[in-house]
Amino acid sequence: MSMALPVFDRVVRDGIEHARAARPLSIVSDETTLFLRRAEPSDAREIHELLEGFVAHGQLLPRTLKQVYRTIRDYVVAIEDGRIVGCVALRIYSAEVAEIGALAVAADRQGTGVGRRLVETLLHDAGLLGLRRLFALTLQDVFFHRLGFETTAVSEFPEKAAADCHTCARRATCGEIAVACTLTN
Ligand SMILES: CC(C)(COP(=O)(O)OP(=O)(O)OC[C@H]1O[C@@H](n2cnc3c(N)ncnc32)[C@H](O)[C@@H]1OP(=O)(O)O)[C@@H](O)C(=O)NCCC(=O)NCCS
Repeated sequence: MSMALPVFDRVVRDGIEHARAARPLSIVSDETTLFLRRAEPSDAREIHELLEGFVAHGQLLPRTLKQVYRTIRDYVVAIEDGRIVGCVALRIYSAEVAEIGALAVAADRQGTGVGRRLVETLLHDAGLLGLRRLFALTLQDVFFHRLGFETTAVSEFPEKAAADCHTCARRATCGEIAVACTLTN
């Protein structure tokens, strides 16, 4: 069974703050319906296949299917006509800092706003979790600039370097740029 409701709003009842599922759907055209939801374990293979296509072209770092399963609760997926056309993951490092990663939109759906919706959904979710600083290491810095991120120094995020960069096979030739945004509420 699919959870069609991807993100949570806060509502106050009797003076207590509750999380509740929020608007699920974004209509992108008359013919197709795109919606975003949290990923489930049964999505892992399809997510992995989507990511692999971009790994092969050097646009994403490789992840094993096992790693996708282990982190499946970090992912949000975009679904269109029953198919995963995009995904993104939020990796939390501390009470304030998290990374946006594993961002991919199927080649035939790029340029239609799917990537923007995925990142905006994640930002919304991150805000509700109390996170303050979101970053990505990316070759697509212009895409992130369009969404309000600014280029910053990767040294601002030593937790990332410790987790991945120090052992990355591509560290000598890495051209990825750090982009970040601060959530204000
Ligand atoms: C990068 C990627 C996720 C963008 O997703 P998308 O769905 O094509 O992007 P959107 O259609 O939502 O575009 C949002 C905005 O960014 C702009 N944009 C998108 N890709 C861009 C690019 N490569 N260069 C410059 N601008 C870009 C769009 O013009 C749009 O601007 P606007 O809303 O002001 O008109 C997608 O191209 C992709 O999956 N690329 C391969 C994998 C990858 O590189 N992932 C990123 C790893 S961090």
